[in-house]
Amino acid sequence: MPAFKAPRGTRDILPEEAHYWDFVTDVASRLCSSFGYERIETPVFESTGLFLRGVGEGTDIVEKEMYTFEDRGGSSLTLRPEGTAPVCRAYIEHGMASLPQPVRMFYLAPAFRYERPQAGRMRQHHQFGCEVIGDASALIDAEVINMSWQLFERLGLKGLRLKLNSIGCDRCRPAYIDMLKAYYEPRADMLCSDCKTRMEKNPLRLLDCKEAACQQIADNSPKSADCLCPDCHEHFTSLRNYLDTAGLDYDVSHRLVRGLDYYTRTVFEIQPESTGSQSTIGGGGRYDRLIEQIGGRPTPAIGFAAGIERIILNLKEQNIDVPGIHSPKVFIAHAGQEARIEAFSISNILRRCGIGIITAAEGKSLKAQLRQANNLGMKIVVIIGEEELREGVVVVRDLESGSQEKVDKVSLAGILSAFRMDDSGLYNNQCQV
Ligand code: HAM
Repeated sequence: MPAFKAPRGTRDILPEEAHYWDFVTDVASRLCSSFGYERIETPVFESTGLFLRGVGEGTDIVEKEMYTFEDRGGSSLTLRPEGTAPVCRAYIEHGMASLPQPVRMFYLAPAFRYERPQAGRMRQHHQFGCEVIGDASALIDAEVINMSWQLFERLGLKGLRLKLNSIGCDRCRPAYIDMLKAYYEPRADMLCSDCKTRMEKNPLRLLDCKEAACQQIADNSPKSADCLCPDCHEHFTSLRNYLDTAGLDYDVSHRLVRGLDYYTRTVFEIQPESTGSQSTIGGGGRYDRLIEQIGGRPTPAIGFAAGIERIILNLKEQNIDVPGIHSPKVFIAHAGQEARIEAFSISNILRRCGIGIITAAEGKSLKAQLRQANNLGMKIVVIIGEEELREGVVVVRDLESGSQEKVDKVSLAGILSAFRMDDSGLYNNQCQV
């Protein structure tokens, strides 16, 4: 047993998995840029109060899952359990209300929740998220939902369902909650113990209980979409029209309420068809009161986040091929002290020409170096020995055909130009060793 292991609920991202991460983050970033979203990254920890007020004291996240600690100066800090409240804090702090509205932002960041770990549920996970702040119109809701859907489409994932609901606003929700309570009260004995607490603290969450008996009761409960005020009703109708126009298929799911307290009106989730809500791959919604709740001026907003680990699990389950990592194909081998120094210097010059190079380490025989080049899947080995040094040449061996030739050092960059990995910056046509 090793002395130390990664903490429970966390995972190392090993080099062999890195191409999945590169693929997902690259597709997500490009997609966001094409919709005019710009990247924002906030600190890994924030004042605890931000999440108490932002995410909501009655939520599982705040009650049971936050990594909260006091720092050496006595401040209470919390590792970010989600990305929306921090982005809103940044919006207020940096006066983004004075920018042209809405402000469109996205992030790729770790989040921390003390949950019971299982496949796809981690204590440290990573989110790709986007937030659009400063616009209340249904058109923006449709944009965010459409962009989320396109993310999964571009990743090649199949068999996903879009679930949609409207949970109303401060004007219509209280009456709906009363109706919900009136429905649940005579059925209280049949509920699980968590739902009994929810009845008091957070009745909306009764609707997404995972217990079978509670789900049956929830299925027949009053629907928030039937209790919307005229403005919320119009907003929801308009959103559905936009989604229909975009050809997006969705299910209106009256039990969809989401686990964070800040949502108003639109809520949505994207789930694999075959599994339950535990495996929700992404979700989001409108949060028109959040900015005000954490000290800003009333500002409408909407956003979405997806778990990168869950996306990768789905890519693997669906056997989706993702592009391999672009890695060097030229290996430089050397024999003898002077050749080693020459190899080091030639490698550096070739890299400045944009060519990807792996240089053999010290202390291995030439045979061992060549074996390593083969094992690494290199295409070309450049060999520098004492004889080559004396003659001012190098040997270029093609590992696929096995052929090799001696070439003048000055022509090396030209010969290897097919292995350029980087067209930017220092490369120029006169580049030579
Ligand atoms: P959330 O639904 O709590 O929403 O998390 C977003 C996504 O993060 C989930 O759909 C899931 O894929 C992933 N996720 C959440 N918890 C875990 C976990 N323990 N392990 C692995 N993956 C997880 C939010 O966080 C909101 N801030 C989304 C949002 C943005 N709403 C508006 N703007």
